Amino acid sequence: MKNSIKLHNKAKKIIPGVSQLLGKRPDMYLPGDKWPTYYSKAKGVTIWGLDGKKYLDFTMVGIGTSVLGYSDNDMNKIAINAIKSGSMTTLNAPEDVKLAEELLKIHPWASSVKYARTGGESMSIAVRLSRAYTRKEKVLFCGYHGWHDWYLSANISSKKKLDTHLLPGLEPLGVPKNLKNTAIPFKFNDWEDLNKVVKKHAKDCAAIVFEPCREYFPEKKYLQELRKIATQNNCVLIFDEITSGWRINTGGAHQILRVNPDIVVYGKTIANGIPMAAIVGRKEIISLSLKTFISSAFWTERVGPACALAFIKKHRKINAGKKLDKIGKEIKKIWINAAKKNNLKIEIQGINPLASFKLITKDWPATITYFIQEMLKKNILASDRCYANLNHNSKVLRLYKKACEEVFKKISHLENKGTIKSHLDGPIKQMGFARLTNRK
Ligand SMILES: Cc1ncc(COP(=O)(O)O)c(C=O)c1O
Repeated sequence: MKNSIKLHNKAKKIIPGVSQLLGKRPDMYLPGDKWPTYYSKAKGVTIWGLDGKKYLDFTMVGIGTSVLGYSDNDMNKIAINAIKSGSMTTLNAPEDVKLAEELLKIHPWASSVKYARTGGESMSIAVRLSRAYTRKEKVLFCGYHGWHDWYLSANISSKKKLDTHLLPGLEPLGVPKNLKNTAIPFKFNDWEDLNKVVKKHAKDCAAIVFEPCREYFPEKKYLQELRKIATQNNCVLIFDEITSGWRINTGGAHQILRVNPDIVVYGKTIANGIPMAAIVGRKEIISLSLKTFISSAFWTERVGPACALAFIKKHRKINAGKKLDKIGKEIKKIWINAAKKNNLKIEIQGINPLASFKLITKDWPATITYFIQEMLKKNILASDRCYANLNHNSKVLRLYKKACEEVFKKISHLENKGTIKSHLDGPIKQMGFARLTNRK
């Protein structure tokens, strides 16, 4: 750990927050100097720390970007080939077109595609296009959709607006005050909000932005109603599949409920960890990217589309969605049984491939910090959520099961004595996204 600690200390001085992503800050797992923080290499669900120590990853595995596993051989071949044949030139990558055809095959209702490289910027593109298309400025939204001004502006009128969608009390510092009341949040699958907020504002809104599956699917009727409201009020219905896409099927979670949006957005795992994002939608909306200025140099490089194309083909061929669902179910079973064996009350949330748990103890933040601390001692990177990965095979699942049982046993013992907090080697972890947990 010496090298990692040294680097972490250096980073603290020159990189605010240490990481560019909130979810990769060591304090989100284990504050102090125990969390490995940096890696040298990764394969499957194994990560090697800077000092060569090997860890099994039972967290979100690359923040949910790599369902085929780290450094997948097939994806590597495609990526290396794209680099060797020139990944950035004056001309365009042919994979752009092949990938667009593939995405439109998945979404026959859509007719145009644009690309970006990250989730947040893709959502910004979708919102800009909706505003350009409808000539309206306000946006209704539910869920997390990135760091950009259009989204954070929700907190100008009150710092509480994003509390249940992202994090409590976010300060919209640096976001122009003129954007006040242009982004209006509504609650997930909540009929009262649908009637009071969505119906009320829809006529003034350019878009209704929605994660079609967060912890759970909404009711089919609810999604159908959202579709109806969008159509009746000339709002663009945008489904954000950045996290939910490619988990249970080769495509988007919304396809399970058979409700089509006007735009669907993909990011994260669409290229198994290679930066790539796609905005897929109706031509009359997407083509406005020519009228309003939407353009970026690195949205034209080759590795992203080449890998996305290979990812989609492999995902379909091996029926990855079905496998991930089965693995996620297995992970949930491990938590439930380990809790039962140790007389602990447990709550399980999430669809199988995006599962999480909470032990009902007197001090949950201390309990989950202790869990992460003790799992790390067994060389397992753990948290209260685990995104199923194709490399979570029976061998590593057995190791995870044994480790969970042992740590839950310790938790049960300490809970009875009321001394979990005093067994922590460092401070309590920072708690995560409200949208992911709906928990305090
Ligand atoms: C649903 C959803 N939308 C948008 C984003 C933002 O994506 P990115 O971090 O690539 O900008 C995320 C990231 O977690 C997400 O889960």
